[in-house]
Amino acid sequence: MPSIGKIAVVTGGASGIGKATVERLSAAGATVICADIDVTAGQKMVSEAGNNSGAIDFLKLDLTDDDQILEFANDVIEKYGKLDILVNAAGGGDIEPFIKNDPKRFDWNVALNYLGPVKLTHAFLPAMSEAKEGKIVYVASDAGRVGSGGETVYAGAKGGIIAFAKSLAREVARFKINVNCVCPGPTDTPLLQTRPEKMLEALISAIPLHRFAKPEEIANAIQFFADADSDYITGQVLSVSGGLTMVD
Ligand SMILES: NC(=O)c1ccc[n+]([C@@H]2O[C@H](COP(=O)([O-])OP(=O)(O)OC[C@H]3O[C@@H](n4cnc5c(N)ncnc54)[C@H](O)[C@@H]3O)[C@@H](O)[C@H]2O)c1
Repeated sequence: MPSIGKIAVVTGGASGIGKATVERLSAAGATVICADIDVTAGQKMVSEAGNNSGAIDFLKLDLTDDDQILEFANDVIEKYGKLDILVNAAGGGDIEPFIKNDPKRFDWNVALNYLGPVKLTHAFLPAMSEAKEGKIVYVASDAGRVGSGGETVYAGAKGGIIAFAKSLAREVARFKINVNCVCPGPTDTPLLQTRPEKMLEALISAIPLHRFAKPEEIANAIQFFADADSDYITGQVLSVSGGLTMVD
């Protein structure tokens, strides 16, 4: 039980990769706060959680709302006294050519995939740096490493979070805080199911392992960066994509 006694926050914890991560960290002994905009799904996941050793709590959080971010971070520190692990898994975006994008959606996309995680990290950093240890994981995307047609603004935000994570890793190493990114390839979650059938078929044939990732397989990599096995790894980016992307 490498995470016994640890307090973890997982954004986007009510679905897909975030949900698998909540379950994985809780099974490893951490107390996990599932933070999500979807209150119904969040409360359902807490009530259906199995007999894991660590408790699971749900707190509503809209990452596009500055006030909610500050309130959420205050509530967590007030209730639990510290934060050891911050997993930024919430994210998403529309699929269509950039030229057809409604510019009104740009701010939402950047808030959800870049500025929200940045602001949440900023809100938690005083408590984490005071504790002089911690793990921060960003669930970015291979779209941010190699590009992805049809999700240009999302790819820009994910590329931004990768660069942010590397820079932050350099700054907070002196507080023994590790900062790393996991880049999922196509993963079988509700988000993927919103993509056109033709696109999914093309992806399956392009992936060397010829299948989509299971959310649990992404959670495995997130857990690695969240526990002590990765104490000497920081500022790194790991693609979990069945070989679809092979980045130096
Ligand atoms: N599924 C894939 O193929 C894939 C590929 C690459 C990257 N990713 C990334 O992995 C992460 C998880 O994706 P997923 O596939 O599990 O998606 P998902 O849609 O299953 O889950 C995303 C969760 O984020 C929550 N969320 C959405 N907007 C929010 C907001 N404003 N504030 C707080 N929570 C919010 C949703 O309610 C949902 O519970 C995302 O960052 C996504 O960009 C996914």
